[in-house]
Amino acid sequence: MADIESLLKETRTFKPDPQFSRSANWNKKTVAAYRKEGEKNPERFWARMAKENVSWFSPWKKVLDWKPPYAKWFVGAKTNVSYNCLDRHLEGENAWRRNKAAIIWEGEPGDSRVITYAELHREVCRFANVLKSKGVTRKDRVILYMPMIPEAAIAMLACTRIGAAHSIVFGGFSAEALRDRIVDADAKLVVTADGGYRKGEPFGLKAQVDAAVRRAPSVESVVVVQRTGQKVTMKRGRDCWYHEEMAAASPVCPPAKLDAEHPLFILYTSGTTGKPKGILHTTGGYLTHVATTTRAIFDLKETDVYWCTADVGWITGHSYVVYGPLACGATTLMYEGVPTHPGPDRWWSLIAKWGVTILYTAPTAIRTFIRLGDDLPKAHDLSSLRLLGSVGEPINPEAWIWYHEVIGGKRCPIVDTWWQTETGGIMISSLPGSVATKPGSATFPLPGIDAAILDEEGNEVKPSSGGLLALRKPWPGMLRGIWGDKARFKEVYWSKWKNTYFPGDGAQRDRQGYFWIMGRIDDVMNISGHRIGTMEVESALVSHRDVAEAAVVGRPDEITGTAVVAFVTPRGGVKPGAPFIKTLKGHVTKEIGAIARPADIRFTNALPKTRSGKIMRRLLRDIASGREVAGDTSTLEDFSVLASLKESDEN
Ligand code: PRX
Repeated sequence: MADIESLLKETRTFKPDPQFSRSANWNKKTVAAYRKEGEKNPERFWARMAKENVSWFSPWKKVLDWKPPYAKWFVGAKTNVSYNCLDRHLEGENAWRRNKAAIIWEGEPGDSRVITYAELHREVCRFANVLKSKGVTRKDRVILYMPMIPEAAIAMLACTRIGAAHSIVFGGFSAEALRDRIVDADAKLVVTADGGYRKGEPFGLKAQVDAAVRRAPSVESVVVVQRTGQKVTMKRGRDCWYHEEMAAASPVCPPAKLDAEHPLFILYTSGTTGKPKGILHTTGGYLTHVATTTRAIFDLKETDVYWCTADVGWITGHSYVVYGPLACGATTLMYEGVPTHPGPDRWWSLIAKWGVTILYTAPTAIRTFIRLGDDLPKAHDLSSLRLLGSVGEPINPEAWIWYHEVIGGKRCPIVDTWWQTETGGIMISSLPGSVATKPGSATFPLPGIDAAILDEEGNEVKPSSGGLLALRKPWPGMLRGIWGDKARFKEVYWSKWKNTYFPGDGAQRDRQGYFWIMGRIDDVMNISGHRIGTMEVESALVSHRDVAEAAVVGRPDEITGTAVVAFVTPRGGVKPGAPFIKTLKGHVTKEIGAIARPADIRFTNALPKTRSGKIMRRLLRDIASGREVAGDTSTLEDFSVLASLKESDEN
């Protein structure tokens, strides 16, 4: 609450620039009309957006079929995502886009590729034929475990072309995490690369796939993109090279006419148990949501060079690197590596080199750059930028102002966009040209979105009092379920209030109705804008034979937002100390991936528990962040545990 209190003291307001407003895709009048329609008749509003922003092979019979918590959007309609992202830009009045850059890609070593819409179309068709030749059909799942290279987008689009659902596993996840996801999705094929570049060094991916697939019997084929040329082992009959298959494949592949509710992808995200949830998104509603929001929020024009810095392994990479921008016929930039290689100004030199006009990134990156100093961006020509975006976590006003002044030269509107893996697309955001912004606030729900702040009983809270963020009406991009787990879907998202979605975030509205998102209120940490469940890290730790028990909490961190802190009880006879800390950090990296690696590990003989045996995480959070232990400790089973934890902290 302290964080939100300080955010709410923020009184600076930034009005839209009149010139920007005049040429905005959604001007003030449009926004006012859409808000009105969205409130009175959201189905009519979304149907309007579906007609304006998506091309359909055949129309829907019904806009929405809502049997809570199950929604079907654009019932009976047929479309295809790759058709919308490619073919329609090559035909009729849009045919001039054939030679427009669809993807500008730059590798970390400095190599680059510019891929036009016509070329991307050919490559996608070819790869769709490769998938078909491996027996992949619209009934199957395909896993992508790839670096940030154009082939990742090509593979995504090829899956959508034939109606196979993809599930992308972030390249930073371990073989163990990859295997869990392959098994849960029951995937038939894996697309990967030998490796990619990071911090100037090649890293490997194929070896992880080999380890994962060894214990994932559903996988029949592995297609490998050659990116680094490092040595890999290819298993005969199972593995093949991407370039060899592509050379032999036909560039003609008509898009499958898919039902609006046909599965599009599954993306795993962390929750409050040890097992990640496979969030299922479908075709027509998702596409309507991401195409509409990309056009409206980023105000895309034909001349823009749009750069969203997310990896395709996360939802932001799905919706706002690939599907949203390509559905709009935009030029989207993809960058392979880290922001600080070969020098700490790599991002700024990329913006100057390619003339980037729109930059969409996360507060954690902004905070990192603040620390590196103003000289770096100031040494580059950033005058091409005209709009900035933020996503993934609450942006602190200091970072907002720095982003506005140093990167945006005080001329670029900032859109702070709140959404989640589950929502598919942006839900709460400023609209450039029509909404006055306040640093730290995502401003208002988009037209057609019914967000509110409720108490536990479902009553709306008064302005300026804290509550739980809620979504009261279905929206087109919403998740359709958790893959293979109906009960968990109902329990996690739909059990707090009647027919209302619970995103897991705390929030407030100020007296002018602005939304201020406070962050997760469940046992999910937000590390550098990425979700990691405390339980996931705990189960990774206790899977080590020398660990008896573990509890994991987050503590505030200046750069990453939250850092992982683990309290560990070693098994009898095991010596706690620096070597064991190193072992355990390595173990978590192996089990999940480097993003889950604890920043601190503390040893304790016992964990604070309630009389019913529940670990008191609130108390551990206080200790981890060096706060006085506050609040009720009356349910604590053994007070001496608290005393010894505090002692271990002082040492
Ligand atoms: O807590 C919210 C935070 O990120 C969570 C969603 O994480 P994920 O599914 O990984 O998707 C991240 C990219 C959309 C939310 O529950 N979050 C996301 N955007 C914001 C945010 N918190 C505050 N302000 C935002 N703009």
